[in-house]
Amino acid sequence: MTPEERFEAILAADEKVEPRDWMPDAYRKTLIRQIAQHAHSEVIGQQPEGNWITRAPSLRRKAILVAKVQDEAGHGLYLYSAAETLGISRDELQDLLHAGKQKYSSIFNYPTLSWADMGAIGWLVDGAAITNQVMLTRTSYGPYARAMIRICKEESFHQRQGYEIMLTLANGSAEQKAMAQDALDRWWWPSLMMFGPPDAESTHTEQSVKWKIKRETNDQLRQRFVDATVPQAHFLGLTVPDPDLHWDEDSGHWRFGPIDWDEFWEVVKGNGPCNKERLAHKVQAWEDGAWVRDAARAHAAKHADDPMEVSA
Ligand code: 3HC
Repeated sequence: MTPEERFEAILAADEKVEPRDWMPDAYRKTLIRQIAQHAHSEVIGQQPEGNWITRAPSLRRKAILVAKVQDEAGHGLYLYSAAETLGISRDELQDLLHAGKQKYSSIFNYPTLSWADMGAIGWLVDGAAITNQVMLTRTSYGPYARAMIRICKEESFHQRQGYEIMLTLANGSAEQKAMAQDALDRWWWPSLMMFGPPDAESTHTEQSVKWKIKRETNDQLRQRFVDATVPQAHFLGLTVPDPDLHWDEDSGHWRFGPIDWDEFWEVVKGNGPCNKERLAHKVQAWEDGAWVRDAARAHAAKHADDPMEVSA
């Protein structure tokens, strides 16, 4: 069996491609691209929520938000570890992100203007992320699929705590309910954009589905998210900001209005409300943390021969 035949046989049997296995260069390249984007998103995604840790309305809410933001850092580390198995270093990935040569999710380039945004992000953004990530637990690359299993367990807590914030506000004073509605108005459409461009305009979907990196398409996952989330909005007594939204009995789906893809591509190109701020903050944090990495490497080098020392 040639390496190519073995690769195809693994996919056909719905088994996992492992780091030791031969894989097409293009498969490796697109996995590095996607896993890096995923990891960068987890790390940069801490910024919008981090802004509200010191302004949480109670100690309980602060503790929950701190735990969530810490989780996201850990998700980034799992995913950088998965990307490293493909032969690229964490430092290279940081350099590519900082140089604008790798992306992170468009959603994190929007500002968080009120405490209700913490609810909308948990409910909608983490809800969209879960929809995508549950599918990725079945992705063909082993380390990526296994990272998703751990991440999805923690993401479910993220989504629930966000929905609880929205429920509290929606059942609160008129001002609190208005805050929740305002957050839904601002985060609804950018959350739908998280799933990527329409399948017909997607650069990678067709090949990624053939390689079983993606098990469902952008549009399929977007529709699943809308179908799950609209009833939740109705339970909150909030209005989804889409005048075209309606239930289609024949298809059994919530049909939604047109997405502003011009806005999406502007944000992806770096012209969103917070792109420059997010990347500048990320670069500054990386530079500020250089001394920690240097100290850890020096310690590891000094104790390299010491069997009791675990390398950094
Ligand atoms: N933000 C930024 N860029 C996006 C994007 C988005 N939401 N959606 C698509 N793009 C980019 C793609 O990267 C690609 O550009 P590239 O060739 O330069 O990489 C281009 O638009 C065409 O899009 P495709 O649909 O062809 O690209 P993909 O096949 O990669 O699909 C994706 C896009 C569905 C986002 C896929 O990359 C994916 O599943 N990524 C992993 C999951 C992920 O990143 N989730 C979001 C962030 S994680 C998160 O939300 C954390 C949570 O804890 C809050």
